[in-house]
Amino acid sequence: MKKKVFVFSIICSCSFAQQKIAPTGLVTSKAMVVSARAEASKIGSEIMKKGGNAFDAMVATELALAVAYPFAGNIGGGGFMVYRKSNGEVGSLDYREKAPLAATKKMFLDKDGNVVTGKSTETALAIGVPGTIAGVFAVHEKLGSLPMSEILKPVIALAETGVIVTQKQQKQLEIYHDAIVKVNGPKTLMAGKFKENDIIKYPALASTLKRILTNGKDEFYKGETAKILVNYLQKKGGIMSLEDLANYEAKWRKPLQFDYKDLKITSMAPPSSGGICLAQIMKMIEPFNLADMGHNSEQSIQVIVEAERRAYADRSQFLGDPDFVKIPIKALTSDSYLSSRMSNFNIDKACLSSEIREGKITYNESMETTHYSIVDSQGNAVAATTTINDGFGSKYYCDELGFFLNNEMDDFSAKPGSPNMFGLVGNEANSIAPGKRMLSSMTPTIVEKNGKLFMVVGSPGGSTIITSVLQAILNVYEYNLSMQEAVNAPRFHHQWLPDLITFEPDAFDNITIGNLKAKGYLINERTTPVIGKLDCILVLPDNSLEGGADFRGDDKAAGF
Ligand code: DON
Repeated sequence: MKKKVFVFSIICSCSFAQQKIAPTGLVTSKAMVVSARAEASKIGSEIMKKGGNAFDAMVATELALAVAYPFAGNIGGGGFMVYRKSNGEVGSLDYREKAPLAATKKMFLDKDGNVVTGKSTETALAIGVPGTIAGVFAVHEKLGSLPMSEILKPVIALAETGVIVTQKQQKQLEIYHDAIVKVNGPKTLMAGKFKENDIIKYPALASTLKRILTNGKDEFYKGETAKILVNYLQKKGGIMSLEDLANYEAKWRKPLQFDYKDLKITSMAPPSSGGICLAQIMKMIEPFNLADMGHNSEQSIQVIVEAERRAYADRSQFLGDPDFVKIPIKALTSDSYLSSRMSNFNIDKACLSSEIREGKITYNESMETTHYSIVDSQGNAVAATTTINDGFGSKYYCDELGFFLNNEMDDFSAKPGSPNMFGLVGNEANSIAPGKRMLSSMTPTIVEKNGKLFMVVGSPGGSTIITSVLQAILNVYEYNLSMQEAVNAPRFHHQWLPDLITFEPDAFDNITIGNLKAKGYLINERTTPVIGKLDCILVLPDNSLEGGADFRGDDKAAGF
């Protein structure tokens, strides 16, 4: 088959997106938090009003989400935080869960070596050692400015006074009701038949947070909380031990940085695949003139999909926990490798995933989630994404402690080539091992332009996180949308396998989809779940801040 190489135009680094864009989201002059719940954004913003910085607000927002948004906010899960200080210094924290020490490579397989459906998602074996409390304490110790007592006060008060049930939350609780009852019994707090505008109080979580405030992070990892948690999990058939909790540590890691035209992008390095995949995709599409092609146009979709397909193929082969596997980061993100990856791109015809394998890399180097974005009045920025994986995680809810446990073990590759709950396939690099962190797609990202803070971006959505973050950046920078418009705009997604383009329902015109089909693209025709749920901040030319809070959830921006 003769392949026609698409001849593309190299464009100048300044696209027409440099024009002034009228904001359509909340605009504030000094500081802002955008998160999945109004209560959490408000608490984070209030902490900054009291003189706290973005890092104090991170601790407050993260824990307020654990109270107000048990669907994904958590202290029973983990996450990643990327920051940029006002002086330009960047860093990132990995508070991802870890496999318990008793975990084994084949723990989710039957005797014939087949994956046992549900074992990595719906049993107590699905639960990884939580990292959130270690994460917030690490941030506070290194970068915080207010006393922990001041930060936790409004969070504990929220747990005690309770949180109003939204319409969307009522629906989530209804959908997951039976699954929650199945593992916890009918008496669990979260099995209540809550309706919109009801108030749920979380007294057990308030007590847990109070003990953590008194005894520090050791309360969660070595104290009474640790004992109650391990006791609960062992009764449920889990394998997490006191030793697992005592050994857990959050890790400061060098963030992944790359340039796209005149942007500098800082994102999460492994064990998240987010930064590497985002870098690969953006570098593969950089030579194409997306702005001229048009937003969500057939040609733009083709260029982006082909780059996504190639990046996710590499993800599946090469990425895992860098403490356990050698990851060829430099080679995977090098300009020469990525331009060679796109050399067989053909604008007239889809390149099927069956024709794409991971690239040839030489190892020559030393070797339901929620996102929130914060900017403070000094210009410090925080992008943090945190998860218990599925909606309400593993559904295991420890009533005595007041929180859900994650089912993050499903993010490992239980067997090479077998898809996980997001349809992602993996390989040896992401196989299970005791104490190893499972590969993530979480992509908390900070963008700077001409040396100045430009955007703070991130999203939940499993495998669709990376492509949602990508579209948020491109929508502002290439397609000239405001921050809120960029978040609202319909999204599409491709992840190599399954070989399908998924579009948000009823949001793309049939002519575009028909033309793509005619070129051989395979389209996901089923009703599709939401692709990402972005919560972002854009710094406007006069240094005020525009929030982009995703209407697909109850997300909200707050600031002053
Ligand atoms: O770390 C990851 O990539 C997944 N555990 C994220 C899960 C997620 O985003 C679910 N939210 N919709």
